[in-house]
Amino acid sequence: MRTTQLLVGLVSAATLGAHGLRVIQSNDDGWAELYVRSFHDALLASGHNAVLSGPAENRSGTGSTDSEPSPRTSPCQYDSCVPSSAPIGTNLTSPRLNWVNSFPVTAMRYGISTIGPQLWHGAAPDLAVAGPNVGSNLYLQVHFSGTVGAAVYAAKTARIPAIAFSGASSGTLAWNTNPVPVRSTVYAQLATKLVNALTAGGKPYLPEDVWLNVNFPEVNEECNQVGDFKWVLSRINVGVFSQPDAQICGKTRLPTETEVILKKGCYVSVSVGDAADKSTADAERQAVVARRLTRLLECLP
Ligand SMILES: *[C@@H]1O[C@H](CO)[C@@H](O)[C@H](O)[C@H]1NC(C)=O
Ligand SMILES: *[C@@H]1O[C@H](CO)[C@@H](O)[C@H](O)[C@H]1NC(C)=O
Repeated sequence: MRTTQLLVGLVSAATLGAHGLRVIQSNDDGWAELYVRSFHDALLASGHNAVLSGPAENRSGTGSTDSEPSPRTSPCQYDSCVPSSAPIGTNLTSPRLNWVNSFPVTAMRYGISTIGPQLWHGAAPDLAVAGPNVGSNLYLQVHFSGTVGAAVYAAKTARIPAIAFSGASSGTLAWNTNPVPVRSTVYAQLATKLVNALTAGGKPYLPEDVWLNVNFPEVNEECNQVGDFKWVLSRINVGVFSQPDAQICGKTRLPTETEVILKKGCYVSVSVGDAADKSTADAERQAVVARRLTRLLECLP
């Protein structure tokens, strides 16, 4: 009996150890947008030590712009902060929730350097995540997306493994929308599932200078539970003149993100991005990610 209890204790401690990551979160739709809040809740429920540092307002389409935050004279998005406030603010009853009055990259930068470490006894994040973005970030959109910008900043400049998530089902939702629509919960659970799959084998979670660009298809009558969705390795840009991709599913050319998420059957695209220029990473780094995610990935029919 006692041995069993001890074993159970050890097993749950080990599970928590594998999952209890310090995760910094940002987005570009704003800190008070529901998608990022549902993801925050899902990360906490999965045992992670998540901290949100998002822009005070919707700053979609601002790419990699970064500038020092300034004081506010108007309320934050959806009236989520008081009209006159400092450049950076916290939800006083939930200090894990923070806003920065600037761009997505700036919010990620402060999250990594200051806001996260304040809540983690000075430690740095293990992982940086951006989104889920309200709407897809495919191919050419990748270059303008603030969600991608924040993830790429983390991977390239701060050297923190990073993932950008986007969901095709759009329509803005305030953080306190009640009840929470299925699309917000499902995207949050899918994103958490990928975080757990990627980090299960320990560090390093990703090769150097790499970020993952993950796009969820629409949530609809056929695709509305985590188990409905299948994961496919993809590339960001069309690969006609590019070097061969990693050999996957018997081919050396991966499908594009657009092909994956538009295919009938609830397919999620996972691209290995090169943080140096937001293009598709080379075959070698694709293969490293494919090995990490072996149990998750499927072939596109
Ligand atoms: C943010 O603004 C962009 C346009 O600039 C719009 O397309 C998008 O829906 C907005 N997102 C939210 C969450 O308000
Ligand atoms: C702040 O946190 C409290 C407690 O979790 C929550 O009820 C409230 O909705 C939050 N407000 C914002 C704007 O995050």
